[in-house]
Amino acid sequence: MSDRLAIDGGRPVRASLLPYGRQRIDEDDVRAVVETLRSDFITTGPAVAEFERRFAERVGARHAVAVSSGTAALHAAVFAAGIGPGDEVVTTPLTFVATSNAVIYQGGRPVFSDVCADTLNLDARLLPSRFTPRTRAVIPVHFAGQPCDLDAIHAEARARGLIVIEDAAHALGAECLGRRIGALSQLTIFSLHPVKHITTGEGGMVTTDDGHLAERLRRFRNHGLSVDAADRQARGLLYAEMVDLGFNYRLTDIQCALGLSQLRKLDGFLARRTAVAERYRAELKDLPGLVLPAVGDNVRHAWHIFPALLDLERLSADRPTVFAALRAENIGVTFHYVPAYWHPYYERLGYRRGLRPRAEAIAARILTLPIFPAMTDADVDDVVAALRKVLGHYLR
Ligand SMILES: Cc1ncc(COP(=O)(O)O)c(C=O)c1O
Repeated sequence: MSDRLAIDGGRPVRASLLPYGRQRIDEDDVRAVVETLRSDFITTGPAVAEFERRFAERVGARHAVAVSSGTAALHAAVFAAGIGPGDEVVTTPLTFVATSNAVIYQGGRPVFSDVCADTLNLDARLLPSRFTPRTRAVIPVHFAGQPCDLDAIHAEARARGLIVIEDAAHALGAECLGRRIGALSQLTIFSLHPVKHITTGEGGMVTTDDGHLAERLRRFRNHGLSVDAADRQARGLLYAEMVDLGFNYRLTDIQCALGLSQLRKLDGFLARRTAVAERYRAELKDLPGLVLPAVGDNVRHAWHIFPALLDLERLSADRPTVFAALRAENIGVTFHYVPAYWHPYYERLGYRRGLRPRAEAIAARILTLPIFPAMTDADVDDVVAALRKVLGHYLR
């Protein structure tokens, strides 16, 4: 390997691009989907109910409601929580825009609070200063797959009678003080996008212990209709009444068949993600120019992504330059996230840069390194080698 950076014409560390994440689909997943395609139901059939039952069991919740994406899951959860025009919902700026958009869909206003500089999760100590008489809910995001300090968040929410909706899009399989994420708050949402822990192509799930909320979620994903088609026929009803303004957010049986097959492999996927993360942490913990976020002692991290922070004071290059240099080495780095309120749409709503200094400082330094179940140790070593090469080159 040449020491000249690939971006300057040297030989890249890898011959082909290593993506930051990707699904793992085996032959049994393919068979499960094909079997469903040959069955009587390709939507609103038995695979949906079975996937929901198994998913709920896996996370320890009473109810799971399958929907067409993590975004739909957030929208449904915000609806079920009763959030409407004029309501405020406190969340983190270090998230995908879907989190805060869901509040806006229902006419509410997202209030962005700041994050902890070490874990990158919502700082529970700041929450009381964000609450107003209009605050109705808190949406913590388990960033990268590391659970937030839920005990502290619940204490603040309980004191104000607020609902907590966990955005666990990164955190299927995560645990907090030995308790599984999925039944610890009133509502929890998951994403089943291909880069997530298990996939249905596109898909999402909302879990809850509350039967009334589960009913609202089921109606919302089906146009707000009082009963679904199978129920209507079974009960001999002429038509279903529309009682809420809902959407078509249904997940098909084809997708749920894939989800069921994937769910059986979740523990294996999590184990491999953890092994990759541990290898990174061992190799990168003392690398000059890089700082790794803290991992709490009391959590099981689900490692959806592997974030690392550039120590820009020690580097002569800025983040875009380091980013381009790593990409030239064929390492598919990416980054999560620009603060949600930096997006032009949010600026149009009146949010301004400078609002949350810690989240903004992190967003300026953060990199996401590749992590996915099919990654080999040799792939991890390539990422480490590329980081050593690139950061070594730019070290002051
Ligand atoms: C934190 C977070 N919330 C919500 C979503 C939305 O999920 P989906 O892509 O399944 O709609 C994502 C997707 O990446 C996410 O990262």
